[in-house]
Amino acid sequence: MEVIVAKTAGFCFGVKRAVDKVYEQAKKGGAPIYTYGPIIHNEEVVKDLQEKGVRVIENRHELEELSEGTVIIRSHGVGRDIYRLIEERGLKLVDATCPFVLKIHRIVERESVNGKRIVIIGNDSHPEVEGIKGWCRDGATVIETEEKAREFTAEPGEKLCIVSQTTFNNNKFKNLVEIICKKGYDSDVMNTICSATDERQQEAARIAKQADAMIVIGGRHSSNTQKLFEICKKECENTYYIQTLVDLEPNTLPPVDCVGITAGASTPNHIIKEVQIYVRNEF
Ligand code: F3S
Repeated sequence: MEVIVAKTAGFCFGVKRAVDKVYEQAKKGGAPIYTYGPIIHNEEVVKDLQEKGVRVIENRHELEELSEGTVIIRSHGVGRDIYRLIEERGLKLVDATCPFVLKIHRIVERESVNGKRIVIIGNDSHPEVEGIKGWCRDGATVIETEEKAREFTAEPGEKLCIVSQTTFNNNKFKNLVEIICKKGYDSDVMNTICSATDERQQEAARIAKQADAMIVIGGRHSSNTQKLFEICKKECENTYYIQTLVDLEPNTLPPVDCVGITAGASTPNHIIKEVQIYVRNEF
């Protein structure tokens, strides 16, 4: 049986950078170390860091209770209010926001100050989108579905600045933008989907097209893994979503000639390797 592993599977540049920064801080030791939200959507890594003394703060309220230590902002980024709060509480800040996300913060900050209405194509409850909204002067409109795009109306004379969540599906983004732009509004469209996501999605689709079965590895809550699954499922009916090797039962895969493997941006390399070895040996 042939096994094709996506070259783009696993940690992207931004996630690797963030995880490295946390390990770096943990190594230094000293004052308590916190990450604002789990550093990545991977329970195993978060647990390992916990054992090294890194604690996870779940929300603003918990941050308000702190009076010492280092707070690490993860690659998703946060709104301006969280930076302010960290400063007010006298805490040390380590900013691991992915530079691609920081770029979006700067765009929406500038354009909203210039009077534009910010439209974010993305998932409203995703922390990255929360963070982006936190840099818009008068809030933002978040659109995730065709239905919402069709319903959307701007005020007369209003100018729009449309950006995207970095991990959004490229084709879906183009489709939603087209629906909005057909309404004739004065819009600046910035496709801020990060190239790592786009390359990963394109490669996943390419492999899924030629494979008889496809395995997508990633955390349950990882939005980019969920998108990868959707993309692969469209090309290959036998697509399976697993978190680790444990989810792959001996009979999960039907007898096939070619299996493809890809993984979300928060999947550590050793998990991908384990799955790859298991598939090669057991099926
Ligand atoms: Fe950054 Fe793109 Fe990864 S935005 S965190 S490099 S998916």
